[in-house]
Amino acid sequence: MAERNLDFDKVINRKNTRCLKYDFAVKRGKPADVLPLWVADMDFETSSYVEDALVERAKEGIFGYSEVQTPYFEIVANWMKTHHNWEIQEDWLIKTPGVVFALAMAVKAYTHPGDSVLIQLPVYYPFAEVIQDNGRKVVSNTLYQGEDNRYHIDFQDFEKKIVEENVKLFFLCNPHNPVGRVWSAEELEKLGDICVKHSVTVVSDEIHQDFVFKGKHQVFAGLKKEFQEISITCTSPSKTFNLASMMISNIFIPNPELRQKFQKQLDAAGISQLGVMGLVAVEAAYSKGEEWYQAMHTYVEANIAYTKEYVEKYLPGVKMTELEGTYLVWLDFRDTGLDVDELEDLIIHKAGLWLDSGKIFGKAGEGFQRINVACPRATLTEAMERIRKAL
Ligand SMILES: Cc1ncc(COP(=O)(O)O)c(C=O)c1O
Repeated sequence: MAERNLDFDKVINRKNTRCLKYDFAVKRGKPADVLPLWVADMDFETSSYVEDALVERAKEGIFGYSEVQTPYFEIVANWMKTHHNWEIQEDWLIKTPGVVFALAMAVKAYTHPGDSVLIQLPVYYPFAEVIQDNGRKVVSNTLYQGEDNRYHIDFQDFEKKIVEENVKLFFLCNPHNPVGRVWSAEELEKLGDICVKHSVTVVSDEIHQDFVFKGKHQVFAGLKKEFQEISITCTSPSKTFNLASMMISNIFIPNPELRQKFQKQLDAAGISQLGVMGLVAVEAAYSKGEEWYQAMHTYVEANIAYTKEYVEKYLPGVKMTELEGTYLVWLDFRDTGLDVDELEDLIIHKAGLWLDSGKIFGKAGEGFQRINVACPRATLTEAMERIRKAL
């Protein structure tokens, strides 16, 4: 049967569908009628092959403990090989109920209470949360904006922080949410060499790996054998096919010692088998979702170009950071002259939008807003027009 869910212009009413994005504004302190473009969740139906596989599995009517065999691994391996030129081995794979869960397990596995963990602010806020919530210390190698309207890494500061704070664990975000960088092989090599030199374990969160619009995604562990030995690579089709509530991610840990430590934390947390629907969704998405994925990617790319043009034409004082990867646009409102509270008020109350405020990504995010453009063009246009009017 052919793919059916290729109409990305279709506006779907997600209200009253247990939807975090649409149904929880009031609970989260926002007016009831805000238009939500915040959380990294796309307003598209997933591939019809995933839909059909789940319906079919549901019809079996029995939902006992489930586990996968080699075919699951082969499907995942094929996706990694064809899309990211990365060859994985079956024993490297550990499945977890989500990537953030894996980040928390890594904190427990590779550090002790009070230890420092390095991140690069502004970054996806659960990075700092899982570090702090586990009683560890957040250390930031804060990214800086270059003349080229992209963010960059201060490598000297990166090494200095590792040495001064005795860092043994680093959370890399590649592609980087929210600044939209796709780190180049050269940049990753520099980071990796410093980590090898100081025996720092690298958790590379590559959940956005399938959303690259400029440049090429390089799997950190795939760059050098030494990097493979120090890395935990976090992947999932949950962003690519919008399957976040399936609670499934594929974590690759080539080094047996690191893998054992990670597994020990999963055991201690009482996690063994995962939900069968998530397993079925992964297999269907990666084995049959290619056409949907390509079409979705093209649609999102056009939305990014549209947003850029709109911002340049109609939003004076607002600048869109060059976006290389992810579907999350990072808008700089600092030249509007609004302070942080005024900007919040403008977005939420004047524009009636629910975006992710830059400040939640750390101090370096103040004056910014993150907007999710993986939605039908009509929704995006409505959001942009609301900002224009509010300004
Ligand atoms: C960088 C990054 N990591 C992890 C996640 C969430 O992963 P999960 O839902 O699998 O915990 C997101 C979601 O936006 C993300 O942007």
